[in-house]
Formats: sequence, structure tokens, C-alpha cells
Amino acid sequence: MLTRLKTKSERKLAKQICKVVLDHFEKQYSKELGDAWNTIRDILITPSCWQYAVLLNRFNYSFELEKDLRLKGYHTLLQGSLPYYPKSMKCYLSRTPDRMPSERHQIGNLKKYYLLNAASLLPVLALELRDGEKVLDLCAAPGGKSIALLQCAYPGYLHCNEHDSLRLRWLRQTLESFIPQPLVNVIKVSELDGREMGDAQPEMFDKVLVDAPCSNDRNWLFSSDSQKAAWRISQRSNLPVLQIELLRSAIKALRPGGLLVYSTCTLSKAENQDVISEILNSYSNIMPVDIKEMARTCSQDFTFAPTDQECGLLVIPDKGKAWGPMYVAKLKKSWTTNW
Ligand SMILES: C[S@@+](CC[C@H](N)C(=O)[O-])C[C@H]1O[C@@H](n2cnc3c(N)ncnc32)[C@H](O)[C@@H]1O
Repeated sequence: MLTRLKTKSERKLAKQICKVVLDHFEKQYSKELGDAWNTIRDILITPSCWQYAVLLNRFNYSFELEKDLRLKGYHTLLQGSLPYYPKSMKCYLSRTPDRMPSERHQIGNLKKYYLLNAASLLPVLALELRDGEKVLDLCAAPGGKSIALLQCAYPGYLHCNEHDSLRLRWLRQTLESFIPQPLVNVIKVSELDGREMGDAQPEMFDKVLVDAPCSNDRNWLFSSDSQKAAWRISQRSNLPVLQIELLRSAIKALRPGGLLVYSTCTLSKAENQDVISEILNSYSNIMPVDIKEMARTCSQDFTFAPTDQECGLLVIPDKGKAWGPMYVAKLKKSWTTNW
């Protein structure tokens, strides 16, 4: 009976919940997050309650679309509350799991909106991008955060890097679908291993975003190939090493006085707080930037896990606020020398 009530897409996804991954998460996250994990798990394994935010594209703005979203009961994210919240960035959310249809890519036509997990905007906002700044998106595909950065400001130079060649194509397509050609032409796209970027472009950037490869909890739970899932789980403990190496490279690429934002879409403490603690313990010129205020300001739209790290936030999926998982940490490079 219950199964019959489920939507078609939910049935399709529910069949694919990967037991190996769920068991592994169950053990780790009940230890790390306590009772909160039960709610998080129920949301993560029930796609029918997932929410999708609508980020309007300022390069093909539609008044009609905005009106329509309001009529449907959508509201804007963080209405006028954060110290940095550019008016040009318009993101609409609904409290219900309504999903706008995805627009199709058509050469020569810019899309009007991008569907995303609203928590993905927190790392973008934490970066506080201003017009004219040089910014690096170190792990950029499929390009959601690059698109969001361009809704906030006109950087003097935007460098989007992605190591995986298939995903690089997806990134290029995203940029072409949302950004007018003259602007696309001044965005540098590269296919480097992000760990090499620091040596390739030392102290070049005012701002760097490291939206790191991670366990990607939502996605891993729905692996249809359980052998691949088991392999991923067995390799999971290597991720923090890669994440720290990417951060070291990002720190090199950042100019003294510049800002660095690190984000992941996993709940895993080893890939979040522990990675940032390792960085803070090994550099004398990297300072944590307090973003607790961001959590206070956004508590209407997001639920955060309690943390003792002032420079880090963890958005956890909750009922009616099914956003996240998203960890965000903000760091600043001071003017003193590296260890
Ligand atoms: C979380 S995803 C990035 C999502 C993207 N920022 C967005 O908002 O659409 C992480 C990306 O890092 C890429 N990646 C993995 N290893 C990398 C490396 N060594 N250097 C650069 N990118 C890497 C992955 O292929 C993946 O596309």
C-alpha cells in the first residue's frame, strides 16, 4: 500500500538505495551526529521530500518567471539579512518539495534558471566576491557554483578548473547555457589536477573556492552498482588526503590577504572539520574567519549541526528544510610567511 503511494521517481530511486553505503553511514553518522542522524537519514533516503531551489539567471532575467514563483508560494532565500547578499543574486525556495522542470540546453539560448540545493549558495556567499576580483573555482564541474558566483559580481578574472575531462565538458556546457558569450570568452577553463594549481599560479587570486571531491552522501546512497559502492567505501579514508592537498595548492594560489572557502556535500567529520583543523594546525599564515553569524542569520531556511568550530558550518537536511549536507569553512591568508 505504502509502496503504491510513492511517486514513480521515488520508486525508481528507492530500489537503488545501496545497503552497503547506508550501513556504513549508519555506523559513522549515528556516532558523529547522535539522534539528528535519524531525521537526516530519513530525508536522504526519501527523494520525494527533497527540495530544489531556483536560482534565477541575471543574464536572462524573466519578470514573469519571478512572478510565477511567488504565486506558487516560493520565497527568496535569506531576504535582506546577511551582510553580504548581492541584490543581483535571486534565489527562490519553496517549503514543499516542489520541483520546477529543468530547462533544456539549446545552443544560442541562455537558460533562465538553475535548480540547486539551496545550501550550495552558502560557500558562494561566504566568498564575498566583489566586482573586479580575481577568483579561482578549483573543482568547478558541473559549474553550479561558478554560475552562482557570476550572479553575485563581475570578477576581473574567473578561472574554473576541473580535473575530470568528461565533467569538464559538462562544465563548459553549463557556462555556455547561462553566461553570455562575451563573458564566457573571458572565463579561463582548465583541466589541471587542482593540486598543481598553486605551483602554476602562485599568489594570483583574491578569492579561491575549493568545493572539494568528497563522499557526496546523497549521491553515494543511490549507487546502483553495489560493487562500485563497496570500492568507494573502502577508498573513502583517502579523501581527506586529497582534500588537504587541494587546500595546500589553493593556499599557494591565494594572494596574501585573500579569502579561501572550503566546502563539501558530506556529513563526514574526517572530510570536514578534521581537514580544516589539519590546515589550521600546519600553517601560521592561515586564519579562521568566524561565520557563525551566517548560521544565525540563515536559521529560518537551514538547519545546522552544532559545532565548536567558529570558521565552519554544517547544514543538515531537516523536515521542510531538506537542504544539505553542506559543510562550509572560511579561511584568510595573512601577510606573514608560510611554514
Ligand atoms: C563537489 S564537485 C564540484 C561541484 C561544483 N563546484 C559545482 O558547484 O557544480 C568536485 C569536483 O572536483 C573534481 N575533482 C576531483 N579531483 C580533482 C582534482 N585533483 N583537481 C581538480 N578537480 C578535481 C571532481 O571531478 C568533481 O567534479
